[in-house]
Amino acid sequence: MHVLAIGNQKGGTSKTTTAGVLAVVLSRSGAPVHVIDMDPQSNLTSAFGRRDDEGLLYRAMTERAALPMVRLTENLTLTPSSVDLARGESQLLSEPGRESILKACLAKSGVSKDAIVIIDCPPSLGVLALNCLTAADSVLVTVQPGGFELRALARLQRTVELLREQVNPGLEILGTILTNCVVRRAITHQVRRELERRYRVLGLVRTDARLLYATTEGRLLDLREGNALEDYAQVAGQLEEMSLWRARSAA
Ligand SMILES: Nc1ncnc2c1ncn2[C@@H]1O[C@H](COP(=O)(O)OP(=O)(O)O)[C@@H](O)[C@H]1O
Ligand SMILES: [Mg+2]
Repeated sequence: MHVLAIGNQKGGTSKTTTAGVLAVVLSRSGAPVHVIDMDPQSNLTSAFGRRDDEGLLYRAMTERAALPMVRLTENLTLTPSSVDLARGESQLLSEPGRESILKACLAKSGVSKDAIVIIDCPPSLGVLALNCLTAADSVLVTVQPGGFELRALARLQRTVELLREQVNPGLEILGTILTNCVVRRAITHQVRRELERRYRVLGLVRTDARLLYATTEGRLLDLREGNALEDYAQVAGQLEEMSLWRARSAA
């Protein structure tokens, strides 16, 4: 199993879109995929046309129980989220081992050993985000070309280093992807060059209205074509070549 967190504490950097589309693309190529919505705004859950009206994810976390799982296709399952999860941000704060709760719940969830687990992180570095990074083997950082990108990344990197020292020694930043890009804009290439100095850049995803509509209308599973889908397929191909999850399942 490999747990990949899609992170960046900035909002609107395409974390949710990336988690959703990579989950769809990887599961279509035959890999067992489980995707977890850890944002109380539950945009990923909506993108798949689902909801968690009973706040099951929040309840599972408070009870340290197995995660709720919904089957979306033969190879793809989802842990949906709801606004209840926002309560976790303050309520879990005083609990011992508060950043390891998701990891404990995931271990109880019976996810297949050769699966890739993708976590859509919330736009913060609070308790919920720390839970994502503690459960993760690696982080893929989404960057939308614009201002202050490297500053946000430096902060995320410091958090990853602290977690590595204290709770999750194996955690690594796998790389970055540039998202929602307009290729003809100079800033796209400027940010890419800056990123490449410090991080592996796994790809560039173009802005694509079909993707925007598919996610906002809850039809992400129906997305079959478009520039963004092609670009995400390339990123997924690189992840497959790294054989992150197969390597660990064989070990
Ligand atoms: N490649 C893309 N093409 C068009 N719209 C995109 C693309 N990537 C993201 N978006 C849109 O940008 C907005 C922010 O993306 P989202 O994935 O919700 O970011 P985050 O989860 O980081 O807050 C959403 O409305 C999403 O549909
Ligand atoms: Mg999001």
